[in-house]
Amino acid sequence: MVDLIVHPSGPLRGSVTVPGDKSISHRALLLGALAEGKVRVQGWLPAEDTKATLRCLANLGIAVDDVTPSDGASALHRHLIVHGGGLEGLREPPDVLDCGGSGTTMRLLAGILAGQPFTSILTGNVALRKRPMGRVVDPLRRMGATVLARNGGQLPPLAILGGHLCGYDHKLAVASAQVKSAILLAGLFADGETIVREPGPSRDHTEQMLRWFGVELEVAAQPGVVSIAGNQHLRPPTDATLTVPADFSSAAFPLVAALLVPDSQVSLCGVGTNPTRTGLVDILHAMGALLTQARVDTLARSRSAIDTEPTTDLQVRACELDAVDVGGDLVVRAIDEFPIFAIAATQARGITTVRDASELRVKESDRISAVTAELRKMGANIEERPDGLLIYGPARLRGAAVESHRDHRLAMALAVAGLVADGPTLVRDAEVVNDSFPGFVETMQSLRADIRWTPS
Ligand code: S3P
Repeated sequence: MVDLIVHPSGPLRGSVTVPGDKSISHRALLLGALAEGKVRVQGWLPAEDTKATLRCLANLGIAVDDVTPSDGASALHRHLIVHGGGLEGLREPPDVLDCGGSGTTMRLLAGILAGQPFTSILTGNVALRKRPMGRVVDPLRRMGATVLARNGGQLPPLAILGGHLCGYDHKLAVASAQVKSAILLAGLFADGETIVREPGPSRDHTEQMLRWFGVELEVAAQPGVVSIAGNQHLRPPTDATLTVPADFSSAAFPLVAALLVPDSQVSLCGVGTNPTRTGLVDILHAMGALLTQARVDTLARSRSAIDTEPTTDLQVRACELDAVDVGGDLVVRAIDEFPIFAIAATQARGITTVRDASELRVKESDRISAVTAELRKMGANIEERPDGLLIYGPARLRGAAVESHRDHRLAMALAVAGLVADGPTLVRDAEVVNDSFPGFVETMQSLRADIRWTPS
């Protein structure tokens, strides 16, 4: 096990490109596997979570070549060729499929496997085996798949015997891109139409990428309703490359660090800014953040790259922040950013409230109670609510020994808190940052942050 040691530092200066988007990297593999023929992917994220998807697909008989050029291209932005086998190209896996800690791998694969005429078993690490799966098990059963799971169909491992699916009209209790995507992917294998109705719109990377592959989807004028007709084939556009932008959720860490460390000025290049993901930008603007965006011209980057997603350069400068009230649809658009947002809120003037966010309790950790417990150790004035947080700012943070709870985003958020605390901060069990952001420490060091690994 390794820890992170962080000392107050700054100002942060420089320009960085964070690794590729995790959600889009998973989808590039999964949809690429179902496509007819080769799919070239550039900027793929080689993190623990996405490598779990790669492993599972290898077990399902899908070949993927790493064709990253050796001439200086970063190891954190891989170029891959996925050899898709079409809708009927997967084979029965000879062993259980290990999703590691990746909820996206398990839920999206469950949707695909529900359409396969063979048996497969999905499992994962201790943390993933505690996460709720009834939300995908129930809809896939309604479509006709046989799915067994522990605890009355709620917890992994999942055993799936798929095939013979029928379209169904699903109403989700909670907006979730993972559940929506699982159902839409199962819908590809179903007879008739499959509809997903969410209480609010979640990230739409699956829909964008399915369209890139020529699949027709109907997105209703009323946000949060998507429908797909079954038996459509995925055909990559001729000679096109699927480009993975830099992950907004990873960029959020240097971005908030630069806002909080006095006199900092940082640029984040080529960040994916799909509006279903950038709730944090809206929240930070409401807090008074000095944050500007310049749209990146994709054609100037590569002639053959066709983006499915908007990409932006973000410039950020340190400034004073005011408290804010966050709830409703904004929570869904910022769902992965609450650990780092909580750090910003400790430094903002006034009382910040987060509500309608009980989903945070079933992420990689219970992020409401974990953030509260760890930030209190650093002197923050923060209270837990059933569906959110109350944070009183500004608070003078002090360095402390804090726990990652094996949650990558909590580990990185606490490391950023350490940059503005008095004295050193030790983030225990921090190698989990590699679940989503390999190179986090080097990226922060390149901006002059005093942060390094230390053995536990
Ligand atoms: C993701 C969707 C979100 C997000 C997760 C990745 C995805 O989860 O928290 O990190 O790639 O679809 P939910 O769909 O469960 O909200």
